[in-house]
Amino acid sequence: MALLIKNGEIVTASERYVADILVEGETIAQIGRDLTAPPDAEVIDATGKYIFPGFIDPHTHVHLPFMGTFACDTYETATRAALCGGTTTLIDFCIPDRSEEPLAAVETWRSKAEGQACMDYTWHMAVTRYDSEVDAQLREIVRDVGVSSFKVFLAYKGALGVDDYELFHTLKLASQLGVITTAHCENADLVSELQAQLVAAGKLGPEYHEPSRPSWVEAEGTRHLCTMARATGAHVYVVHLSCEEALRQAVEAKLKGTRVWIETLIQYLLLDKTWAERPDFEGARYVMSPPLRDISNQDVLWNALQNGLIDTLATDHAPFNLQQKDMGRGNFCLIPNGIPSLEDRVRMLYTHGVATGRLDIQRFVEVASTKAAQLFGLYPRKGTIQLGADADLVIYDPAWTGTISAKTHHMNIDYNPFEGMAVQGRCSVVTVRGNVQVRDGEFVGQKGIGRFIKREPNHF
Ligand code: URP
Ligand code: ZN
Ligand code: ZN
Repeated sequence: MALLIKNGEIVTASERYVADILVEGETIAQIGRDLTAPPDAEVIDATGKYIFPGFIDPHTHVHLPFMGTFACDTYETATRAALCGGTTTLIDFCIPDRSEEPLAAVETWRSKAEGQACMDYTWHMAVTRYDSEVDAQLREIVRDVGVSSFKVFLAYKGALGVDDYELFHTLKLASQLGVITTAHCENADLVSELQAQLVAAGKLGPEYHEPSRPSWVEAEGTRHLCTMARATGAHVYVVHLSCEEALRQAVEAKLKGTRVWIETLIQYLLLDKTWAERPDFEGARYVMSPPLRDISNQDVLWNALQNGLIDTLATDHAPFNLQQKDMGRGNFCLIPNGIPSLEDRVRMLYTHGVATGRLDIQRFVEVASTKAAQLFGLYPRKGTIQLGADADLVIYDPAWTGTISAKTHHMNIDYNPFEGMAVQGRCSVVTVRGNVQVRDGEFVGQKGIGRFIKREPNHF
């Protein structure tokens, strides 16, 4: 069935105008004024509303075996929640255990997503070990599976982290294949030493998580990644950058010609380290890595997002429920790291960015959708509104007001880090390739229509 969306204000990263959009099949067939509805079309009046391209979250962990447990969403629950929040494409991480073959991990992630996802998705391929077998399988994954981005962890020593030999050869391979490498930048050895010192001193609560991984540890990791990128000619993407000190390192490398792009998270823009200092172990809800920082970093991150020093805004959605967080009662090093936010990214960015005047509305679209599509080989199929693009659309009602709560959210998690915070606007209607998946902010669509998107290398 066709879909005609009338009189909305279309906002993309490059344009802003009032028009109708006709969707036929899975793609955008016409854009113009006073379009006529085909006989079988559903017509939606979007007067007074924005129409944004579907938002893309370039950093989520839906299936995540981590720190002795598993993130608690499924592809069904996560994608339903994401859609209610306006995100129509996820880039999750396929993460083999260090002893596991990469192709085996691809099968695992495929089995979790296929038939479950309510939106399109792809994965960054994590490299948690590098040897000749891994090298061969990574080539196959890029060529045949259709994954064109890698992930390395400089943190998580002894678990997911790679050493410098592995990092160097992964980046060399990525450079040869035209693949961008995303990286978690914290110096793993420093984290281990600082954790050991704090634990020895009896400093065991969640409030010591940040002191165990201070800004300078992240800055050092960021600088190290950039040095390795310079040495190998690789294109790199710093995930979840949390602070000014790390930003300065990445910007300095950019100025010297290193091909480095930067992502920050909605959590870092709105929450600070005092949340992890809350009494009675409530702080555990706010433990993630890199940690929430001193509030002075927030203005810097907002400004960098607006002026282009930071490229994308993601969530790093990694939900661990309160029982799972309890694993670290008595030792903060054992608290599963992660703060859920998949559903709330877009509306919180709109509320605290666009509605306050901190973020231009077209820049909002760029950082939350278009730039990720361009960097990760999804553009222009995703990330914009143009003829022939996938009809992934968000009709956003800016007049709606509400409050965030775990009681009403759709994520499979028993708390919300933004509990009680006000929101301006909601995603009234959300489509995935022309299928209406959300109406009046609620999921009404079909499970399992989401497809894995094959991506070509685009970083040469
Ligand atoms: O604390 C975090 N960020 N948890 C998820 C895993 C990761 O490092 O991205
Ligand atoms: Zn990370
Ligand atoms: Zn992550």
